Amino acid sequence: MTEASPAHPAGAALRVRRADRLEGELRLPGDKSIGHRGLLFSALAAGEATVTTFRPGADVRSSAAALGLLGAVTATERDADGTVRYRVRGGGSTDAARLPGAGGETLDCGNSGTTIRLFSGALAGRPAPVTLMGDASLSRRPMERVAAPLRAMGAGVETTEGHAPLRIAGARPLRALRHELPVASAQVLGSIALAALAAPGETTIVSPGPTRDHTERLLAWLGVPVRREGLVTTLEGGRGFAARDIAVPGDISSAAMWLVAGALHPGGRIRIRDVGLNPSRTAIIEVLRRMGAQIAVEPGAPTGPEPVGDLVVTGGRPLRAVSLAGAEVADLIDELPVLSIAMAAAEGTSEVRDAGELRVKESDRIRLVVDGLAAIGAQAAELPDGWRVTRGRARDAGIVTGGDHRIAMAFGLAAVAGIAGTVILDDGDCVDVSYHGFWQDLATLTGGAVAEPSERSAP
Ligand code: S3P
Repeated sequence: MTEASPAHPAGAALRVRRADRLEGELRLPGDKSIGHRGLLFSALAAGEATVTTFRPGADVRSSAAALGLLGAVTATERDADGTVRYRVRGGGSTDAARLPGAGGETLDCGNSGTTIRLFSGALAGRPAPVTLMGDASLSRRPMERVAAPLRAMGAGVETTEGHAPLRIAGARPLRALRHELPVASAQVLGSIALAALAAPGETTIVSPGPTRDHTERLLAWLGVPVRREGLVTTLEGGRGFAARDIAVPGDISSAAMWLVAGALHPGGRIRIRDVGLNPSRTAIIEVLRRMGAQIAVEPGAPTGPEPVGDLVVTGGRPLRAVSLAGAEVADLIDELPVLSIAMAAAEGTSEVRDAGELRVKESDRIRLVVDGLAAIGAQAAELPDGWRVTRGRARDAGIVTGGDHRIAMAFGLAAVAGIAGTVILDDGDCVDVSYHGFWQDLATLTGGAVAEPSERSAP
């Protein structure tokens, strides 16, 4: 178990078993990458906008709460069906993008790496002090990767030995620069791009590999002169933009959970409605198809800067092993834990390489995936930057989640699909970080509860 911070106590243990059926139709929580950006960019804009999303998870709620403290989120409306509308009043003008707030705030980013890194950049251009902190997991993650470029742009940024809490003394104007990112990270790229809004002139960010491009798409849609060409993002700073209503599509990283479970379960048939289909996020569909899974994509009419559509997965086909490395891994980074379950069910030996970033996510995901795979009966080997896995004999297991939402969902679904025996997750509540209502959606698809509270011990 990870230690729990007082604000984020460890959740309750959950026993999950195989389901006899797994079929139906779902609408998923709003994409968290787009949700954070929709809220934060609206808070930098001139005027008011509504950000509409569905069942936002704890991470997006952390961003909304932080913006509430700054005075930017002025109201939150919740419909009975789970739709949430955030009213946001920006601190900017049409001449200058700017966050509101008097200074001296302490913002709790919870478990959310995207919140702390994007807010750092946005606050670097506000000449007032602010402290950004988070839970025990977030406080272990590396923050120099954002602090160093923001300092180079002229902001005062102090880390706590390279970690959160961060103390930011913003400055304005900031200096436009050319940055070479040491790691391919959409969070770091987004942080620098947001600081660049307060830096007159051209900021150029060069990434060593592909990253999701939600920052560029959304800023361009809001009228900011920004472009991505290959691995180079260029942004013209020193201007403002007008607020615009944003509707957040369903999260494809949450859809990945059902694509894997639906492909593995012999009776799997799941339709997932209104999912974001940004090409920098859809590698999971391509890789599962390459393994032999049957997935149909039905594009819908776009309503904003992101493509959307329905996904339909049909289960029961045998899967083949797959080897993943290089650029493809970056496009799949959040999907690798659940993909490891498909790998553990496939014929042959699968391998993941070049995924060292997984060690600094919400947990050390390489360690927890390999330990979990071994516990459920697969043959798994830990590599410095990934793993190797071959199918074994499914068995009952206790799973250490490390409080990590994606580990909990992946191994819960291993049990549901029969790739594991019955599992006991040491924390079933952490799924809420990205997927509010996950266990209810599972009960909808299985037609009854296959997950129930448990003592915290192996079955
Ligand atoms: C995210 C970027 C990714 C991803 C995270 C969300 C974002 O991290 O893992 O869940 O919204 O920018 P990197 O910054 O490592 O690419």
